[in-house]
Amino acid sequence: MKRRQFISKSARGVLAGAVAGGMVFPAKGRSRILGANERINLALIGCGGRGEILARGFIDDGAEIGYVCDAHSDRMAAMAELLNGLQNKKPKMIKDRQAALNDKDVDAVVIATPHHWHALPMIQAVQADKDVYLEKPPSLTIWEGQKMTEAAKKYNKIVQIGAQCRSAPYVHAASEYINSGKLGDIHLVKVFNIKPNPPCTKRGEPYILGNPEKPPKGLNWDLWLGGSPSRPYYPTIFNNYGWVAFWDFSVGDIDDAIHQLDLALFLMGEPTPSAVSSSGGQFHFKDTDADIPDLQECSFDFENFIMTLEIGGYPAYMRKTTTTIRRNDEFPYWTQNATRVELYGSKELMIIGRHGGGWITMTSGGKIVEKMYGRVPDEPHRKNFLDCLKSRKRPYGDIEIVNNSMNVAHLSNIAYRTGNKKLYYDSAMERFIDNDAANSLLRRKYRDEYSVPDKV
Ligand SMILES: NC(=O)c1ccc[n+]([C@@H]2O[C@H](COP(=O)([O-])OP(=O)(O)OC[C@H]3O[C@@H](n4cnc5c(N)ncnc54)[C@H](O)[C@@H]3O)[C@@H](O)[C@H]2O)c1
Repeated sequence: MKRRQFISKSARGVLAGAVAGGMVFPAKGRSRILGANERINLALIGCGGRGEILARGFIDDGAEIGYVCDAHSDRMAAMAELLNGLQNKKPKMIKDRQAALNDKDVDAVVIATPHHWHALPMIQAVQADKDVYLEKPPSLTIWEGQKMTEAAKKYNKIVQIGAQCRSAPYVHAASEYINSGKLGDIHLVKVFNIKPNPPCTKRGEPYILGNPEKPPKGLNWDLWLGGSPSRPYYPTIFNNYGWVAFWDFSVGDIDDAIHQLDLALFLMGEPTPSAVSSSGGQFHFKDTDADIPDLQECSFDFENFIMTLEIGGYPAYMRKTTTTIRRNDEFPYWTQNATRVELYGSKELMIIGRHGGGWITMTSGGKIVEKMYGRVPDEPHRKNFLDCLKSRKRPYGDIEIVNNSMNVAHLSNIAYRTGNKKLYYDSAMERFIDNDAANSLLRRKYRDEYSVPDKV
């Protein structure tokens, strides 16, 4: 039996064509039906750096945060105070997310927890008839992505992933340009994520764990660990995004690269690869406690093109697109832009930035044929989510579609972790062909009480 839930033709067409979808998610069940002018009530799970940015944004957009939930009560209290100041109403503070899921006045849940804590709350939320905004990367394993997609479809809920490039007008324009045939045939796509100071290092030094400590008062460390193997509390893991350096909690620096990878796959029409290979290692930061490499080079075979993904953490001279460029009519200096995608057509080369930065197309000698500035798309993405809660249309960054990109990301990590070999992948079965070691990484073991259920 084929396990994969195929991306439906309509979903693929709708999203590859960058047009918001039809009425596919009728509101039903326990949650209220939202009127056009009604204020949307959200619950925030995860009160760290990204949770704050999202909460501020959703309040700016006119929504209200009714609940905040975090494994650390200090973070939760600080967030509740902050939001009280912003919306003149203090959100309820809850240690157990179920309280928000049981409240029929909560319209949707915003999840901004570490990667190992994405699948379970998302699935529980849709089971409780809530729509979900879930931060990227959606899943920690391919199996989790299957279960999440299955649950979203089964309960007919809107689940938007924080893959905001999908809501960017300049990205939609790039898609139209490509679909018009102006680039010609594209047989090579290069995705870059080579930047200074990513999670494999601590400010340009090797990542050193230091000594374990007693968890700070207010932090439920066991809850924070969730389904991942138990280990003592390290402030270096909990704070400053340190957990991204460990496979138990994260997908490595694909955490960041997923934005460009997803953008590239969107532009190429949401294809699935048949093979992957990956090379890399801890070349520069050798004496490190981090699991993840500081250089990872991946290559994917698609039907009619090859895509490469280059993730690096040591070149100090590379730069992510600056905030100034993201918010103005400016282009990055492409050669040293850390987060770009290059599409090599038979007629023209397109270089496109993520989160703003726009795109250019070129022929020989650096002659620019077409160009477009771009803005950071966080706001249109959030607004698209809020609009879809009312219209019940399929959002940009729908789980089913982004899960396809996430699978590609997982493939590259599995290829790296199984020893830099070329692996052949059956995308219909969502399994590697004749490779037990690789297949063993499709799924992870959970500590019992935090298990993602087989039956969603
Ligand atoms: N889309 C984007 O542009 C973007 C940008 C930054 C981060 N992110 C994503 O946002 C997510 C969160 O990142 P962050 O920087 O805020 O991390 P963080 O470590 O700063 O915050 C995560 C919070 O989740 C809490 N938490 C952990 N387990 C929990 C649980 N079971 N219940 C409730 N709270 C729990 C932690 O205590 C912490 O306060 C990640 O997936 C990250 O990749 C997305």
